[in-house]
Amino acid sequence: MKVTAAALAVCTSFLALSIVLAQSQNSDKSPTGAVPKYDPAIYAELQKAPEKARNRTNPLQNDPDAVAAGAVLFEQRCAECHGDAARGGKKGPSLRAAEVQDATPGAVFWILTNGVVRKGMPVWSKLPEPQRWQLVRYIKSLGGTAPPAESPASKP
Ligand code: HEC
Repeated sequence: MKVTAAALAVCTSFLALSIVLAQSQNSDKSPTGAVPKYDPAIYAELQKAPEKARNRTNPLQNDPDAVAAGAVLFEQRCAECHGDAARGGKKGPSLRAAEVQDATPGAVFWILTNGVVRKGMPVWSKLPEPQRWQLVRYIKSLGGTAPPAESPASKP
């Protein structure tokens, strides 16, 4: 499977390259190879959480201090890759994407515990479990069901 995927990737990049080259012959400005900011494949790992892990509930779900504590931890440990307030950084993707926001708390906890080491997401199993659950609360507080900028309450 992996070999096929790699071969496919190589073929695709050759195709892309030839298109780019063909285009650059016609115009002075060749298109810049900007990396797409959003790629659903990045989040595929969340889908791999075993059912038991996925169904775990967050023991701090009703802890009123968990989100604030998670925000501090995030700033210290995660923001260098995932960017300010998890909006995405140079090394790590945004955690406001639907894939993360729609994942169960248990699945996010599982990712923190196991990492995605081969892709640069470290293992956080050394962080005490309550801290990992605080991070889950914080990440979950960033999107999904949270109201957007203009909340109904602000309407007259
Ligand atoms: C050294 C950089 C780095 C740090 C530090 C880091 N991450 Fe990540 N993280 C990544 C990368 C890269 C990915 C994408 C992995 C992939 O392609 O599957 C990722 C992915 C994720 C995902 C999505 C899982 C998925 O499907 O890929 C979550 C959730 C996440 N990180 C949470 C965190 C949290 C919380 C912290 C802090 C405790 C953290 N990360 C620290 C680099 C980092």
